[in-house]
Amino acid sequence: MVNYKDLGLVNTREMFKRAVAGGYAIPAFNFNTMEQMQAIVMAAVETKSPVIMQVSKGARNYANASILRYMAEGAVAYAKELGCAHPEIVLHLDHGDSFELCKDCIDMGFSSVMIDGSHLPYEENIALAKQVVDYAHQFDVTVEAELGVLAGVEDEVSAAESHYTKPEEVIDFSTRTGCDSLAISIGTSHGAHKFTPEQCTLVNGVLVPPPLAFDILHEIEKKLPGFPIVLHGSSSVPMDEVETINKYGGHLEAAIGIPEEQLREASKSAVCKINIDSDSRLAMTAAVRKHLAEHPGDFDPRQYLKPARENMKKMYIHKIVNVLGSDNKLANCD
Ligand code: G3H
Ligand code: 13P
Ligand code: ZN
Repeated sequence: MVNYKDLGLVNTREMFKRAVAGGYAIPAFNFNTMEQMQAIVMAAVETKSPVIMQVSKGARNYANASILRYMAEGAVAYAKELGCAHPEIVLHLDHGDSFELCKDCIDMGFSSVMIDGSHLPYEENIALAKQVVDYAHQFDVTVEAELGVLAGVEDEVSAAESHYTKPEEVIDFSTRTGCDSLAISIGTSHGAHKFTPEQCTLVNGVLVPPPLAFDILHEIEKKLPGFPIVLHGSSSVPMDEVETINKYGGHLEAAIGIPEEQLREASKSAVCKINIDSDSRLAMTAAVRKHLAEHPGDFDPRQYLKPARENMKKMYIHKIVNVLGSDNKLANCD
């Protein structure tokens, strides 16, 4: 059993309070590999941004739970080595699907967990979230719960259709669960294919998806003033990365994400955590495909993973500075 504080990590409480008050959002980037982790830390240090490094159940199975715990400890040490004396790094479980998984992560040094009971009946979602909160809070670990269902794949849970969060439920849900933040459904979804071309409008040759349900977000904010809100499924699916992938042998059709302008707007509200995974996958894959196509004789992983890491770092910095606005927001930037 290890507490996250012993690993130099922080929970989300203070950073969310500052983000809601300051009108910006904290980036929550998923990682499975060392290169992703390095790129996240480099970007956070360069921009002096707090950051949430998150792992799904699938990522944990892929990378191994013990290795991840040491990677998180390594991330803090690496940030300091890069010159950040007071990094604010959260290790977060993304889409925890059971009390046992959340407990295991808390016991292994995670500073924050998500319990995703969004697919369960309302009362069961509350009971499960409360069970996790009661355990997590004993160790000062913060808990994200979800109300409303996102379309797409959430680890091993998938839903064909989204169900927007009902604003009339949020006070009861957050009070009875005691959760520290609430993930809501207002039109985002997971993966690189968030909308079909038929759902979009063609503007100047670009497919523009329908806007997020900001009216629902604002109603939720009115019911829960200052309460931290989380947006999942917030990759923008940059067209240049998709084009690079397709140019160098890939086959990604009709990949459409959330326009960054909408995420910029959401960041100014009580939305204080924005989840991005697919954009990292696209940045990595585009760079690897390009490198291998241009250097067919290369077979040392460092030759193609270095440009992949650089491309992810560039993307993370762009999100932090130009979309979420979390740059220079460390409590202590020295
Ligand atoms: O919300 C899902 C995240 O993008 C994690 O995806 O379960 O494939 O690791 P994964
Ligand atoms: P994207 O698939 O849009 O990157 O969403 C990631 C996410 O919500 C992780 O929980
Ligand atoms: Zn998610």
